[in-house]
Amino acid sequence: MTAGTVCWEDTQLHLEALKQTVDSALDEFTRLPEDCPSRLREAMRYSLLAEGKRLRPLLVLLAAEACGGRVSDALPAACAVEMIHAYSLIHDDLPAMDDDDLRRGRPACHRQFDEATAILAGDALLTLAFEVSAKHTSPRERAGECCALLAEAAGPCRMVGGQMDDILAERGGHSLELLERIHRRKTGALIEVSLVLGAVLAGADERQRRALAEYGRCLGLAFQITDDLLDVEGEEGRVGKRLGKDQDRRKLTFPGLLGIAESRRRAADAVEQACRAVEAFGADARHLKALARSIAERKR
Ligand code: IPE
Ligand code: IPE
Ligand code: MG
Ligand code: MG
Ligand code: MG
Repeated sequence: MTAGTVCWEDTQLHLEALKQTVDSALDEFTRLPEDCPSRLREAMRYSLLAEGKRLRPLLVLLAAEACGGRVSDALPAACAVEMIHAYSLIHDDLPAMDDDDLRRGRPACHRQFDEATAILAGDALLTLAFEVSAKHTSPRERAGECCALLAEAAGPCRMVGGQMDDILAERGGHSLELLERIHRRKTGALIEVSLVLGAVLAGADERQRRALAEYGRCLGLAFQITDDLLDVEGEEGRVGKRLGKDQDRRKLTFPGLLGIAESRRRAADAVEQACRAVEAFGADARHLKALARSIAERKR
C-alpha cells in the first residue's frame, strides 16, 4: 500500500465520521413543528436527507479544523450550506430549468411530489438556511457576517446569477471565458463560501482565510468540470442522475467546448492549484488536499 493510499483511507474515515455528524444535524434541523404542513416538511426532507456526498458541509468543517476551530461551532453553517445546495438542486431539476427526473438516485422532488411542492420545498430550505445561521451560529457575534457571506454566495451575482447565465447560454456559440464565469458562480460560489465560513467560524486570520478561499475557488471549478465530464462518461447508477442531458439541452460545458481530454487536464490542474493554495497549513490541510485529489477522479 502506498503512502498516498494510507492518507486517503485516513481521510475517508474522517469524512465518514463528519458526514454522520452533518446528517444527524440536518435531520434535527428539519424536524419542524406542526405549523409546517407535513407535505412541505416531507418534500424538504426527501431532497435534503437523500444520499448526497455532503461535499459543501464537509468543506466547512474541514476548513474550520484546518484553522484550529471546533466542528460543533461550524456545524450550523455547514448545515445551512447544504440546505442552500439542496434547494438549488430541487429548482435546477424543475421542468422550467434543466427538466431532470432523477436526483441522488431517486425521482427528482417535483416527480416525487409535484412542481408546486418542489418550488415551495426549495423556498423553504433556502429560508431555513438563514434561520439556522442567524439563530445557531457560534460564536454568536459572527452570525451576521456568516449570513451576509451566505447570502452573497447564493445570490444574484453568484450562484443564482450563474444559473441564469447557464440557462441563457443554452443557445450556444459561447466562449471559454463565459463558461468559466458560469461554473465559478453557479457551482464555485457555494463551494468557495463553504471554506470561508469554516475559516471565519474558527477565528482564522486574514492569510488563512484568503488561502482557503483560493482553495475553494479552484476546487469549485474542478468540481463543475468533473460534473460536466460525468454527464458524458459517468455511470447513471453511480452518479444517481440522468446522464447525457447536457448535450441534449445544448448546455455550455467543458467537454462540449474543449473535449474530454482537455477538460480532464483542466480539472486536474485546478485541483493541484487548490492543493498549492493550502500548502502553508502543512499537515493541518491533509484532509483538504486528499479530498481535492479525489475530486479529479470522482465517479459520482
Ligand atoms: C450537483 O452537486 C450539482 C452541482 C453543483 C454540480 P453534487 O454533485 O455535490 O450533488 P450531491 O450533493 O452529491 O447530490
Ligand atoms: C447545477 O449545475 C448547479 C446548481 C444547482 C446551482 P448542473 O445543472 O450541471 O447540476 P446537475 O448536473 O443537474 O447536478
Ligand atoms: Mg443546471
Ligand atoms: Mg442540472
Ligand atoms: Mg451537471
